[in-house]
Amino acid sequence: MTVLGIETSCDETGVALYAGEAGLLADLLYSQVDIHRIYGGVVPELASRDHGAKLMPLVVDALAEAGVALGQLRAVAYTGGPGLVGALMVGATFACSLAYGLAIPAIAVHHMEGHLLAPMLEPDPPRFPFLALLVSGGHTQLVLVEGLGRYQTLGATLDDAAGEAFDKVAKMLGLDYPGGPEVARAAETGDPAAIRFPRPMLGKDSLDFSFSGLKTAVRLAIESRRAGDCSLDVATRSDVAASFQAAAVDTLVAKCMRGLDSTGLSTLVVAGGVGANRMLRTQLREAATARGARVYYPRPEYCTDNAAMIAYAGWCRRAEAQAPPAAIIATPRWALDDLGPPPVAHS
Ligand code: KG4
Ligand code: ZN
Repeated sequence: MTVLGIETSCDETGVALYAGEAGLLADLLYSQVDIHRIYGGVVPELASRDHGAKLMPLVVDALAEAGVALGQLRAVAYTGGPGLVGALMVGATFACSLAYGLAIPAIAVHHMEGHLLAPMLEPDPPRFPFLALLVSGGHTQLVLVEGLGRYQTLGATLDDAAGEAFDKVAKMLGLDYPGGPEVARAAETGDPAAIRFPRPMLGKDSLDFSFSGLKTAVRLAIESRRAGDCSLDVATRSDVAASFQAAAVDTLVAKCMRGLDSTGLSTLVVAGGVGANRMLRTQLREAATARGARVYYPRPEYCTDNAAMIAYAGWCRRAEAQAPPAAIIATPRWALDDLGPPPVAHS
């Protein structure tokens, strides 16, 4: 059964084809970073317009690359939320219209379910149940995953998401957008012990996160090291980036270990854009191994937004698909815990 997956929740237009045992037949991604870079962040209206321009050609290319005809598609999966509502609407209306025209089902996929299922696309996938750390530009969550659609959020950020904190620190340091990879790059030549930033919420017993105090500490450190209106010298900038990254990673690792302890689970899945961070990957692996647990990651390109994860999640939920599409779903805010499992699959 071949499912077309469409991702347009933010600033990446993604189109993929997933076919069960045959796996991924195509996976194309067009990034809008060059459009948004000059503004230092995503401009929602520009994002929507560009999705509209790129989606159709990407679908045509993906079908050609996979050698799949439109008539062979059995469902169209699209990101129904959470995300930027205009951007979501472009993917949702396109997907539902195509599905309607082909008289096949359309499936609205929860973007974060896509992220947390992304490691299932790897050759050695994790098994349920597991603890998932979802760390993206909009979310920081620790989720107990008992099965497909059976999610319980154990902890979440009280303010900024981890990726948002990376992006804001990048801005303060005068680094390019998107900030996460830029901070990580600057940190490579910096000293992570140069500045002892706070490790937020570690004193508390909860599994919640908070990054606004760390962000303020970084701002104060930058201001105190700047001579007048000048920007930081390159060495100091790298030290600030490395020290911030160390504090953010320490916090994420500590909360994950606390989550493994409190649930008694020994499998941790890390997903979302910040999951591409190399320091986070290394430290999580070391900490988990030390307690006999195992960490699973998607490959770095499946940590950030992509359509492969949407096509896969849609394929997993094929049993709940209705033909023709009953409604066009574009939900900017959508709680993962509300999803529920799909009905038992029959194909
Ligand atoms: O999952 P994603 O692609 O989009 C959302 O759904 O938000 O995540 C994007 C976020 C951005 O905040 C970006 O700065 C961050 O992930 N990110 C990173 C790295 N690569 C992407 N943060 C830290 N280190 C990285 N290597
Ligand atoms: Zn995402």
